[in-house]
Amino acid sequence: MWCRNILRSRTICNNPAIFTYLQCLTSNSFKNVTLKLPARHLVASNTRECTIGDVIDQWSHRFESEGIPEPVESIEHIVAHIIGTKKIIDILNVRNDPLNASQIEKLESLCECRLSRMPVQYIIGEWDFRDITVKLVPPIFIPRPETEILVDFVLKRLSSLRADSYEVLEIGCGSGAISLALAHACKKIKCTAIDASPHACDLTTINRSKLNLTEQVAVIHATLKSDASIEVLDSLHDASDMSLNSRQFDFVVSNPPYVPTKKIQGLQPEIRIYEDLRALDGGDDGLKVIKPLLKYAAKVLKPGGCLFVEVDPTHLEYIQFFTNKYTDLKLQHVHTYKDFCNNDRFVEVMKLA
Ligand SMILES: C[S@@+](CC[C@H](N)C(=O)[O-])C[C@H]1O[C@@H](n2cnc3c(N)ncnc32)[C@H](O)[C@@H]1O
Repeated sequence: MWCRNILRSRTICNNPAIFTYLQCLTSNSFKNVTLKLPARHLVASNTRECTIGDVIDQWSHRFESEGIPEPVESIEHIVAHIIGTKKIIDILNVRNDPLNASQIEKLESLCECRLSRMPVQYIIGEWDFRDITVKLVPPIFIPRPETEILVDFVLKRLSSLRADSYEVLEIGCGSGAISLALAHACKKIKCTAIDASPHACDLTTINRSKLNLTEQVAVIHATLKSDASIEVLDSLHDASDMSLNSRQFDFVVSNPPYVPTKKIQGLQPEIRIYEDLRALDGGDDGLKVIKPLLKYAAKVLKPGGCLFVEVDPTHLEYIQFFTNKYTDLKLQHVHTYKDFCNNDRFVEVMKLA
């Protein structure tokens, strides 16, 4: 599906270097792919010294004139990546520093990707999520800042409990951001992270190693099916307990695909072209994964355990209807939390004793 999206993008098809790079990412293991693009859009003349301030000004104007969202942030992140600083704020202190020829060549190549609407997170290949940094590779879903709120609420709930350890299951781990941020923040947490995409599982495994969280996070290639059971496809050599239909968990956490299909075409090109739409598309009503998730959580949560799920604001009504109607499942809607835009975005559901 992702390849089809790319093929629909004229900008990318017209750029063989980017196209080949993306083809490599989809067809092979993405672990060793590096981006090598010819620098064809040099902004500054190679004959004079080019400062960081020059390239930021020139490229932010170019991005703006070509309708690229967040033009200043885009070039600042790219420059920060090129000079090896993590924070774009640091760039303000080095505006007068020169860039050498190879830095400029690399920068031009990366800016060309941005002109093709590649998200800056994929261009620089990593992104911060809470207090961890995760490697990112297209088309694996880019963790969104608001999802940090979901992690905050899980940790807050957990801090009110007194157990020695907590078993957490994440459905749809993507890059691993949620599970890894949870495990990083609390040593008492043991996470099992599953995803229907083998590439997402590979990326979570890579990020897990980089963060030294192998002991705390198990990764399983598995799918939550519409009948509310989990089909395990591969344990990825983890010696983890794969009995996901009979084990009990303290928490189930998920940021599932929840965008109604009809809204997918309205998403910005950065998402439509580069991200795996199976990570976003929640079917006609956006509830394709959320419905089995509720039933599955009822089966595997310990009494007093909680499901934390990110949803579309329109889904709250359904979740309340579901928990009220299926009383035999012993689920209770506990709380709804807002996102940065004051939308009902995160739902907490408890399994009653
Ligand atoms: C919106 S992304 C969230 C990724 C990550 N948790 C985050 O917040 O950055 C949803 C993820 O769920 C996975 N997924 C979709 N349907 C699934 C299913 N039925 N079972 C397991 N994983 C699924 C997708 O592959 C994708 O990685």
